[in-house]
Amino acid sequence: MEKIIVKKSTGLKGNIRVDGSKNSILPILAATLLCKEECIIHDIPDLQDVKIMCRLLEELGAKVEKLGTDSLKVRADNIKTCEAPYELISKMRASFLVMGPLLTRCHDAKVYMPGGCAIGARPIDLHLKGFKYLGSDVKSESGYVHATAEKLIGRDIYLDFPSVGATENLIMAATLAEGETVIENAAEEPEIVDLANFINSMGGNIIGAGTKTIRIKGVEKLHKTEHTVIPDRIEAGTYMVVAAATGGDVMIENVVPSHLQPVIAKLRESGAAVEEYDDKIRIKAGDTVKALDIKTLPYPGFPTDMQAQFMAFLSKAEGTSIINETIFENRFMHVNEMSKMGLSVKVEGSSAILKGSSPLSGAKVKATDLRAGAALIIAGLIAEGETEITEVYHIKRGYSNIIEKLKSLGANIRYEK
Ligand code: UD1
Repeated sequence: MEKIIVKKSTGLKGNIRVDGSKNSILPILAATLLCKEECIIHDIPDLQDVKIMCRLLEELGAKVEKLGTDSLKVRADNIKTCEAPYELISKMRASFLVMGPLLTRCHDAKVYMPGGCAIGARPIDLHLKGFKYLGSDVKSESGYVHATAEKLIGRDIYLDFPSVGATENLIMAATLAEGETVIENAAEEPEIVDLANFINSMGGNIIGAGTKTIRIKGVEKLHKTEHTVIPDRIEAGTYMVVAAATGGDVMIENVVPSHLQPVIAKLRESGAAVEEYDDKIRIKAGDTVKALDIKTLPYPGFPTDMQAQFMAFLSKAEGTSIINETIFENRFMHVNEMSKMGLSVKVEGSSAILKGSSPLSGAKVKATDLRAGAALIIAGLIAEGETEITEVYHIKRGYSNIIEKLKSLGANIRYEK
């Protein structure tokens, strides 16, 4: 079984380049199903989740070709089946994003219930409610969702919660629908804007992405395009926390600082110095770490995907920190693992209360989900002794070359079979 072995590493220094965003490329790849012509996409991160999405597109009939080191050409001129296989959908929740494109393009889509990180119940009711509003007949039977519609018709849809995935699925479904769809209380994440920019570059008509109200005027067909994915703000944020937690000084390249404002604000509040440039951020650790109160919220609030990494960092804080998780109901699985390393933390409902100044020591721990895995690496970098992390496949789903990148900053970390 593959493991990551991490040893205490201080003063990490150097430059690191962030890859294209995982959470952007997955919906963008799904959106290539909307177009019969070729889509060329650049800055594709080398991740397990991207490979799964590419395999899924191929199963559905698209041709996917690698161009150079980090570009892909996708051509979905011929969709051969509208049924997305269980084997792939069960591996990754984001694969459910093919439902919207298949439904609007083929008027029939059969997609198994999604899998992915076990961070809560993660229902898909908002996606399905939206598809129904657009005029489709949706049935959930024996583990799969079957939606059919002679044609999709634009409507006003209010999302009870600004779900990222539901907003993306509905934008895609509405792209080739008849008339105008308005999504109210839409998610405002930068990845939604990237998806809308991608679809608009193919001739789609989407305005308001990045705000709570998104208007999509249906078009008959889309044309070929070329697009570069935005940088991954969570990968960037993770390396920023690595720098702050290890007493380091790191320049993070290929970032959009405006996407990282809540993370920057919390790091500054903790005592770290953050310098923002056009597409770079330099982070220098402070002499001490101040305790923080963090509440995860939909964008532009503090991202749930950064919560676990901050928990590892705040083990060094002077005083009590509180992390309140409002997005997912079961996203404290890393607490158990970090407790094995000596973290003094208590979970009460949706809040984790960290005593702070709890020196960590190396232990055998397992990555329970993607971001929890990254957080354990951070915990391992600040813990005395050696930390052994298993179930590293979670980490590979979202961080490309994480070992090499951390080693280049001077971290003592390696894979072991
Ligand atoms: C996306 C991100 C994930 C991030 C999350 C929140 C991708 C591939 N993944 O996940 O990294 O942690 O946004 O920022 O982009 N919900 C419902 N009904 C639905 C849909 C969602 O109740 O139909 C709930 C979920 O259970 C969860 C909350 O809404 O509690 C947020 O989910 P959502 O925004 O949809 O996250 P994902 O798109 O799954």
